[in-house]
Amino acid sequence: MTDIKPTIHLIAAARPNFPKIAPIYHQLVEENWCVPMIVHTGQHYDANMSDDLFKDLNLPEPHIHLQIGSGTHAEQTAGVMVAYEKLCMDARPDYIVVVGDVNSTMACALVAKKLWIPIAHLEAGLRSNDWHMPEEINRIVTDTLCDLLWTPSEDGNEHLREMGIAEERIEMVGNVMMDSYEMMRAKIDASSALDEFELEKNKFAMVTLHRPSNVDQKSSLAVLVKALIETSKQISLVFPMHPRTQNRLKEFGFWQELSSVETIRLIEPLSYVPFMKLVNSAALVITDSGGIQEETTYLNIPCLTVRENTERPITITQGTNQLISPNEMAEKTAEVLAGNWQIGVRPDLWDGKTAKRVTKSLRRVLGV
Ligand code: UD1
Repeated sequence: MTDIKPTIHLIAAARPNFPKIAPIYHQLVEENWCVPMIVHTGQHYDANMSDDLFKDLNLPEPHIHLQIGSGTHAEQTAGVMVAYEKLCMDARPDYIVVVGDVNSTMACALVAKKLWIPIAHLEAGLRSNDWHMPEEINRIVTDTLCDLLWTPSEDGNEHLREMGIAEERIEMVGNVMMDSYEMMRAKIDASSALDEFELEKNKFAMVTLHRPSNVDQKSSLAVLVKALIETSKQISLVFPMHPRTQNRLKEFGFWQELSSVETIRLIEPLSYVPFMKLVNSAALVITDSGGIQEETTYLNIPCLTVRENTERPITITQGTNQLISPNEMAEKTAEVLAGNWQIGVRPDLWDGKTAKRVTKSLRRVLGV
């Protein structure tokens, strides 16, 4: 037995990755048997998409920053691969942990696999079966490459078995996002975000929309804008806006129309604590995000997901989520406001203890 601690890279790239990395990083620091290093690829780089969340989640500055930035899928994926390969060849880690389904997740997994560095995927096994979503491709490639597959729910295990992945590589660890919520619960409860935005609990709906399938085409965005305006006749909408959506609304000429509606508040992206405060105080959430479908189930907040499918079906079967088309938004909102909505049950192992299961699993495979 040597005294040298193994080095573990935690790959952080885009906003939804940060609440998945944070609990693992903090748990590893506390256990002190390895050297955890946060590698930020730079896929998200604006302060309100990255640095602010790092601060909220008590994360240090990334140990390594690859500064890749935006680009086409090929540019972004290739940029991360070239930079991460160089890093791994200069200082080889003992294990890498990738999370979620963004381009950087797949890019780092590809690099590590070809260098024979073992990889774990946190949030493995999710499937929308929609190959038009870049995330679905990222998930399938990443799951194929990884040595250890940590799933949030039983459907994830099933999908991996269907791919022929050996049982010993699959482990259901639960949903790590709930660890972040529990870790930050006191701060979220104490947050002044409601006052700052002059909002009253249960008197508004939160909106987040950024999927290319919803916002990248003028015709789809037009339908969405109309639906939001219609819905805002029933309840005020608060819409922290992803830069992609903001750019498209301006480019297609919808910004003025939407921002001039008195009951629609368009605001900048929020960091983790104020965002979760508003989600937990909202009467309902309208979204196309992945993680928010899960957070609303955990918090028992009605969620309308503006998508044709979801890789998180447990949020529908057990939780508070329903898939809707833009045309149904106003009608479904009315149902929620009439109190006609399903009560959520927290899925197994969504209990704030996922990070502990993850680090135990890592110790086992590393023999530490
Ligand atoms: C990415 C993920 C998506 C995730 C989302 C969460 C992929 C394929 N997509 O989508 O799964 O749900 O993050 O936010 O990895 N931009 C900025 N500032 C930033 C980052 C992005 O202005 O800090 C703008 C740029 O114009 C950029 C565009 O947003 O081109 C898209 O960013 P990108 O990372 O390519 O994809 P997202 O839509 O953010």
